[in-house]
Amino acid sequence: MTAIDAVRSQLVEHEQEHLLTFWDELDETKRAELLADIESVDFSGFQAAWAQAHKSDESVDPTGFAAPACLDVMEGRRVRAAGEQIIREGRVAAMTVAGGQATRLGVDIPKGAYPIGPVSGASLFQIFAEGVGATNKRYECRVPWYVMTSRANHGETVSFFEKHDFFGLRRGDVLFFSQSMIPVASVDGKILLEDKHRIAMSPNGHGGSLTALAETGILGDMKARGVEFLSYFQVDNPLVRPVDPEFVGAHVTKGSQMSSLTVGKASDDEKVGVFVDIGGELRIVEYSDFPVEMTGRKNESGGRMFDLANIAVHMLDVAFVESVTGGDGRVSLPWHRAGKKVHAVDLSTGQAGTADAPNAVKLEMFVFDALSLADKTMLLKTDRAERFSPVKNAQGVDSVATAKRDIVRRSARWMGACGVSVPTKAGGEPDCVLEISPGYADDEPALMERETGTDRKIASGETLLLRC
Ligand code: UD1
Repeated sequence: MTAIDAVRSQLVEHEQEHLLTFWDELDETKRAELLADIESVDFSGFQAAWAQAHKSDESVDPTGFAAPACLDVMEGRRVRAAGEQIIREGRVAAMTVAGGQATRLGVDIPKGAYPIGPVSGASLFQIFAEGVGATNKRYECRVPWYVMTSRANHGETVSFFEKHDFFGLRRGDVLFFSQSMIPVASVDGKILLEDKHRIAMSPNGHGGSLTALAETGILGDMKARGVEFLSYFQVDNPLVRPVDPEFVGAHVTKGSQMSSLTVGKASDDEKVGVFVDIGGELRIVEYSDFPVEMTGRKNESGGRMFDLANIAVHMLDVAFVESVTGGDGRVSLPWHRAGKKVHAVDLSTGQAGTADAPNAVKLEMFVFDALSLADKTMLLKTDRAERFSPVKNAQGVDSVATAKRDIVRRSARWMGACGVSVPTKAGGEPDCVLEISPGYADDEPALMERETGTDRKIASGETLLLRC
């Protein structure tokens, strides 16, 4: 049997032999590329994931949903000192998941490189880097920052950091690691070709970060540095505090293995995952799976029953990550299906296809499903206006414009709390474009220290950037 016959029979076994449709017309280089792609795919694993994703989609049963227990903002304040001590001791690392493809934003740069500072034009990565730097300075520590990329954006992401000299952080304290890819298939499970000689692949979801931490040696790096706790956040939220002493304090004092930060939902139909209690255990149900009829359900006091939104900020014990990825480095998280528009080659004509409507299925693991693997979890509520304004879309809700607006609003609020008079428009919106970079002040008390005695005045319509 020739080498290609062996590949063909392997593909036949998995009902994916169409991947060789154009074999005869490929030159040697392209054949080699296609064979490399085929070799990189774990077809049995894909088949199992595909079958399991179908089952898990059917298994959302809302009958057992209850509102989960949640600590309030005041509880976080009470344990802040404990969190600060743990950060000072160098036991906390920051971790950003940035492997997504930013399709909704419609840009062809890594999302973290997107300029979001309303005055500075600072990128999301720069804002996070300044937040990490502010923590290092305040607590005289060196917080390592782990950034997860994917094959689609790894090189560009690393170059972006290099070009900006790692935004003032030590190069050795910013580490990149790539998540794995998984084939994209048509609705009937046939893997798609993005070109006649290339398999269509996409990142395996942010749940892939746990496996990637183990497989790329990052867990070992954490342990060597004495890191015990991971502060996890997504690349799209410029208001996030990369290492939050209150959240760290609550996570550790409650003895939780995996904890989440939450805010009240903005509306019944806000596109956020929702925290629920199922049989006494904390879970997140993604908005696309959450039963529509339950989104507006009220509790006894007339409030929204399922009001706690997933803002994708979690704390994880390194020992917990290690235990769930033990052995072969794999973690047993469920697979989810997402309908996507993918440019795929039409097998009958060989033409490169364009997709106006979803024509493909991506399989993804979600990191928050690891909550169900933890013996002890914790949920802490925080203030949306302080911590959450994601950049998802080019326009409208959760867009560049709303994130910039919310940075200005928060800056104005902090200024107001420091006694500075901030001009406002008729509706109460700040009548100025104001940005406080995290390096200048990463919270209200820090701004208070900076501003005391400055006698600052802000004029109507002024544009002001406070940075070091
Ligand atoms: C996500 C959450 C949702 C939450 C909302 C808050 C999921 C499935 N849903 O929604 O519950 O309320 O954020 O803003 O996460 N990423 C990777 N690799 C991947 C896929 C994604 O690193 O393979 C990263 C992205 O770069 C991004 C983040 O994960 O930082 C979120 O991914 P996205 O698919 O945009 O999730 P949302 O639908 O926005």
